[in-house]
Amino acid sequence: MKTEKQDIPWTEKYRPAYFAEVKGQELAIQKVKEFANPFKFIGENATSRTLAPLMKKKQSKKALILHGPPGTGKTTLAIVAAKEAGAELFELNASDLRDKKKLQEILKPALEQKSLLSHAKIILIDEVDGISKIDLGGLSELLVLIEESNVPIIITANDIWDRRFNPLRAKAELIKVREIDYRTIRDILIKILNKEKLFINPDVLTTIAIKVKGDVRAAINDLQAIVKIKDFSGITFDERNKEIDIFNALKFILKEKPSEETLRIFDYVNLPLDEIILWVEENIPLEYGGEELARACDLLSKADVFKGRIYKQQYWRFLIYESFFLSYGISASKKTAKTGFTIYKKPERILKIWLHNQRTAKKKSIAQKYAKHVHVGEKRALNEFPIIKNFIKSNQNIQKELKLDEEEIEYLGK
Ligand SMILES: Nc1ncnc2c1ncn2[C@@H]1O[C@H](COP(=O)(O)OP(=O)(O)O)[C@@H](O)[C@H]1O
Ligand SMILES: [Mg+2]
Repeated sequence: MKTEKQDIPWTEKYRPAYFAEVKGQELAIQKVKEFANPFKFIGENATSRTLAPLMKKKQSKKALILHGPPGTGKTTLAIVAAKEAGAELFELNASDLRDKKKLQEILKPALEQKSLLSHAKIILIDEVDGISKIDLGGLSELLVLIEESNVPIIITANDIWDRRFNPLRAKAELIKVREIDYRTIRDILIKILNKEKLFINPDVLTTIAIKVKGDVRAAINDLQAIVKIKDFSGITFDERNKEIDIFNALKFILKEKPSEETLRIFDYVNLPLDEIILWVEENIPLEYGGEELARACDLLSKADVFKGRIYKQQYWRFLIYESFFLSYGISASKKTAKTGFTIYKKPERILKIWLHNQRTAKKKSIAQKYAKHVHVGEKRALNEFPIIKNFIKSNQNIQKELKLDEEEIEYLGK
């Protein structure tokens, strides 16, 4: 018996029962409430006529589409909406939609004898974008249902922008359900551990929370799997969780206190370190001021020095230091953890300059090789570069003689 209980997925065991327990979706919650409220005391006896004034007040659409990435609370919001409105939730899938008899049963006004108190209904069409090609007929039935039904309909979808949903989108109210911030996810995980009377190293929780990229379901599943392991040191996460985006990495570095996890944060970002430097540089001033800013900038310049040495002397070992300054160093430059929400900026301007410099670097190195070879000044070679470039480009023997590398040859082609 006991083992059975332990094996309930925590995602079900801890599925929020009330709006207050659904975290990080304040805006969506407010909109779902507004949507469900006008229907609140409408029973099955309501007719279009009695419904009309109520609908006019606030509610113009009878269907609501909750769309957004997986594991963010879409299905949960539908369940909670029904519960808080004291309504019964009916889940329909594509084949139900074409089953006229079943629909009739659900929509039939008045299962009269039942008490007058609890007969509000809400229909849920979960994951409408999962309707298979064969079942697409159900989609047009859904449009009819929205027209005719007096029962509010909640539809969920990961991606609602496919063309085949055009008519559906036109008939329904759209609500975007957002990815959940990793700090919110971490709080959800901590609450669950407390209830389970378990403890896990906070760094591990942070790691999980970051790596799921906003997916609470994945985080809770990872947590449930991990508590069974005694030694965390060798934990590897599956591919799905491996990458984190640069925005979360920045948030982690600039807002959190440094930890062991901080050291490795950029290993999970799918960008070369050279580009990460630009991101960090661009966004430090958004979080740090005064002394903190000065310290961080100092470290940034140190990272840059190491970068220079890496390229000039091919000391790849220095990459570790560069990464260390960028992550732990910058994180440790602040006195206290930062709170609040910051919109980080893309370093577009610097990126352009950098790309430009990369290009002129090629130009320079080709001109240098040429100048040395034909005994002219470097400056002159640079000035006459357009002519020289064409000349070298058209003759592979010269390219060989100058010992141009692949990148330089590629540059000639541009
Ligand atoms: N915003 C949230 N707040 C708290 N728990 C959440 C949230 N979103 C998802 N969860 C957890 O993840 C599980 C799956 O969420 P669900 O609503 O089914 O996601 P989906 O958006 O894929 O429909 C829930 O049972 C709950 O435990
Ligand atoms: Mg769902």
